[in-house]
Amino acid sequence: MHHPRLPAICSLPAMAVAAVVLVFTSTTAVAASLAVVRSSCVPAERAALLSFKASITSDPAGRLRSWRGHDCCQWRGVSCGNRSHAVVGLDLRNDYWQHDSFFSDHDSGNHWLRGQISPSITALRRLRRLDLSGNLLGGPGVTIPGFLGSLSSLVYLNLSAMDFDGMVPPQLGNLSRLVRLDLNNPLLGNQYSPDLSWLSRLSLLEHLNLNIVNLSTVADPTQAINALANLRVLHLDECSISIYSLLSRLTNLTAVEELDLSNNFLFSGPFSSRWWFWDLGSRLRSLQLDACGLFGSFPRELGYMTSLEVLDLGNNDLNGMLPETFRNMCSLNTLTLAYTNIGLDIARLLDRLPSCPERKLRELDLSQANLTGTMLNWLPNQTSLTLLDVSGNHLTGPVPVEIGELAALSSLDVSGNNLNGVMSEEHFSKLTSLTSLDLSDNNLQIRVDPDWVPPFQLNVAEFSSCQLGSRFPAWLRWQNQVNVLDISYSNLTGTIPEWFWAVFANASSLDLSYNKITGELPRDLEFMSVGILQLRSNQLTGSVPRLPRSIVTFDISRNSLNGPLSLNFEAPLLQLVVLYSNRITGLIPNQICQWKQLRVLDLSDNLLAGELPDCGTKVAKQGNSSSTSMPHSSPASPPSLNIRTLLLSSNSLSGEFPLLLQSCTNLLVLDLSHNKFTRNLPAWIGERLQNLEILALRSNTFSSHIPGEITRLPALQFLDLANNNLSGTLPQSLANLKAFTTIAYTGGTGNPFDEEYDGEYGFVTMGPSDDSLTVETKGQELNYTESMIFLMSIDLSNNNLAGPIPEEIGTLVGLINLNLSRNLISGKIPEQIGNLQSLESLDLSNNHLSGEIPWDLSNLTSLSYMNLSYNNLSGRIPSGHQLDTLSSDDPTSMYIGNPDLCGHPLPKQCPGDHQTPDVEHPIRDHEDGSGSDRMMDLGLGLLVGFVVGLWVVFCGLLFKKKWRCTYFMLLDKLYDKVFVFSVLIWRKWFSEAGEH
Ligand SMILES: *[C@@H]1O[C@H](CO)[C@@H](O)[C@H](O)[C@H]1NC(C)=O
Ligand SMILES: *[C@@H]1O[C@H](CO)[C@@H](O)[C@H](O)[C@H]1NC(C)=O
Repeated sequence: MHHPRLPAICSLPAMAVAAVVLVFTSTTAVAASLAVVRSSCVPAERAALLSFKASITSDPAGRLRSWRGHDCCQWRGVSCGNRSHAVVGLDLRNDYWQHDSFFSDHDSGNHWLRGQISPSITALRRLRRLDLSGNLLGGPGVTIPGFLGSLSSLVYLNLSAMDFDGMVPPQLGNLSRLVRLDLNNPLLGNQYSPDLSWLSRLSLLEHLNLNIVNLSTVADPTQAINALANLRVLHLDECSISIYSLLSRLTNLTAVEELDLSNNFLFSGPFSSRWWFWDLGSRLRSLQLDACGLFGSFPRELGYMTSLEVLDLGNNDLNGMLPETFRNMCSLNTLTLAYTNIGLDIARLLDRLPSCPERKLRELDLSQANLTGTMLNWLPNQTSLTLLDVSGNHLTGPVPVEIGELAALSSLDVSGNNLNGVMSEEHFSKLTSLTSLDLSDNNLQIRVDPDWVPPFQLNVAEFSSCQLGSRFPAWLRWQNQVNVLDISYSNLTGTIPEWFWAVFANASSLDLSYNKITGELPRDLEFMSVGILQLRSNQLTGSVPRLPRSIVTFDISRNSLNGPLSLNFEAPLLQLVVLYSNRITGLIPNQICQWKQLRVLDLSDNLLAGELPDCGTKVAKQGNSSSTSMPHSSPASPPSLNIRTLLLSSNSLSGEFPLLLQSCTNLLVLDLSHNKFTRNLPAWIGERLQNLEILALRSNTFSSHIPGEITRLPALQFLDLANNNLSGTLPQSLANLKAFTTIAYTGGTGNPFDEEYDGEYGFVTMGPSDDSLTVETKGQELNYTESMIFLMSIDLSNNNLAGPIPEEIGTLVGLINLNLSRNLISGKIPEQIGNLQSLESLDLSNNHLSGEIPWDLSNLTSLSYMNLSYNNLSGRIPSGHQLDTLSSDDPTSMYIGNPDLCGHPLPKQCPGDHQTPDVEHPIRDHEDGSGSDRMMDLGLGLLVGFVVGLWVVFCGLLFKKKWRCTYFMLLDKLYDKVFVFSVLIWRKWFSEAGEH
């Protein structure tokens, strides 16, 4: 250190010099540090940061707690320049975005900052680095603020995993020093940029991530991106761009190492040898073209990409063999060919994978790739594998015992194949790193010593449909890290061991459905933190246990639970309760009023009795009516419940139509069938339950008239009031039943039973039991089936309804099942019934209908069941295409009990019939006009019938698949969905956000 005062003390003895120098330097050090303190933080910048902080409205983790005091350079996340002390970096990224729940209503436990970005931030003139990723500083309708474009020193800008919306501000083009720009905001997913000329000005950019920014209206994205000659990393996942023109014309980008163009669906075609990235040859490290509409074969050129470490070609219709050159890809460590259509023996495919001495594959995803063959012969040498997924193929044979040698393996998924044979300890011998194991949906048997202690600690353990041995697998007791356990369909018998509940106390999803488990559940499960508990279809007895506070869905349907339903536990998160088909007695307890999140309650087929709790509705109603003279004002503030599906059929419940339902304004499905409800149907059904799609009140003793208001339910598509004591006339104005006035299968609202659960455990669809609803159609009472979702049905049979059938019935063209039988209905069958082109089942029997049968009935090409017996109908029975095909074994049964009907198929001839009854078509034809017209009608009718029929079948299948996914596999696959959501989406889109 040089100092002007040093020469003056040069003559002093060395010791003294040393001492003085020592004292001097330490004092200057102190002085210097004092100086730093004094000038540590530019006051204007400190003020700017404070007003930034002021616009943060929520900081549940207290991340800005240190933002006080003078020296803003000491505040957490703030960094200052060494000499200028100006703020040069603001790093407030939320590292916990992967775990924070964006869906819950409360912030506790989350780490994000909520609020806005204050414009005061523009006072930080020297700011080089700004990272706000993983925070919620946007919101619907809030775009990335344009003023960020004036932070002209910025080199690094990371706004990923935030909730910005709308247009990306072109002002970002002013950040001409920017080297890295991250804008992927999947939360709202509505960001767009109509014009990329701003981007072309960022010529220093090396790292660009515009994932999920919609660029579909950009005339030529290639031009702007080509201007970024320094780009090394380019992520344009889900940007709605045409990858073909991009890849053919991005010639300027010679430095790219990482390219992600996944989920750009606009293209559909094979690989082209003219694409630019082939020229990147030994430079490209990562190539992701997942779901890019590629089809055809794997290109030879792939084999020349020898520096490629990550290759993702999943979700493309690629088929056939990998090129022989593929073996040269010695750098490859991650290969995804999931959801392709390779269509070959897995052994042949594996033979093409690189086999290089040192570098070996770590992650291999071959799921759903239409692979056949066995898993033998390849595994022994793949000792580097950490992830192996061959799920959803057609693999056969045993799981090779050599798999136990893959000591690095942490995730193994062989589910959904046709694998068989026995797996024993040996298969797992060295799998010490295994955390995720899915053996579901094969024919595998796991046979291990009762004392076996597995070498692994699983986090995900899925063994659905594996034979785990008749006794409860004892080795599970060592797996206390499990988060998701699925041992459904695994033939388990006997009782659940006591240790089970303690070992899995911290799991989030447990599925033991479809076994033969006996015994009682513990009285108290409150100590657990499980969210999803599935025990459907076992032989459990005893009563419903006290559930943990964390419980979200609880299904113990089809067991033998008994005793009264006592729900004396707090379950603020409960969304789905399915107790269908048990022997539960007593009242429905008041607690259901406290479960504000409850969406599905299925208590059908039990021994419940008494009235439903009114959840305070009565008080609110009385309070209201006593305090005001206006009869029509709505009740004061009835408690609001979120129930959407309420299934209570086949119990002994009584009382009037439950008042509690006034609070359930979101109700979609209500089934109170087969109970002892009485009194009238209230008019408020039509006002309060505007979303109702299914209303099933069959087999009760409801009386009085059907309120006309019921026809004001615009979404109603299934109305079953059969077997009650209803009287009065049929509701006349039916045209308001909007759902019936369109033909089903074309869009519609989808499955009203599907409940989407989105929350801490991810995103799943869930629903109640498949057979807890019944329908009477085509003369039989059927259990609820998949297709019933689309069954547009009105069943008012077996009441005391009188009066005519309204002509407006003709507007309900979507109607598939109409049953008005066993009433006192009179008048004529309206001609308009011939408009009901979707009608498959029509039952008007046992009424007082008179007059002729409308001839248009014969045009109902979908009709497959009709019953008009026991009325006072008269005249000639219409004949024609469809009617002649009905009830072919006993066609007269449709018409008997109408003494004045005549003609085929009744033996009674009509006046004026001289020929044999068999030859009546020509007569009709002559009456109608020209015979050729009739022929055309016939042809058209057949065609329509065929198309409609086909469509019904087709949709049935479509639905069936969906149904199976959502219901039967539903919670089996929960982890998949959680995983898909939290990992595939988040990690994929934000993996870059993790690198600084
Ligand atoms: C699977 O591959 C086979 C054989 O190549 C092919 O015939 C079949 O169509 C493929 N399956 C599907 C669903 O594409
Ligand atoms: C496994 O590696 C050994 C030696 O490295 C080699 O001899 C053998 O052929 C390999 N096996 C397979 C199936 O690739």
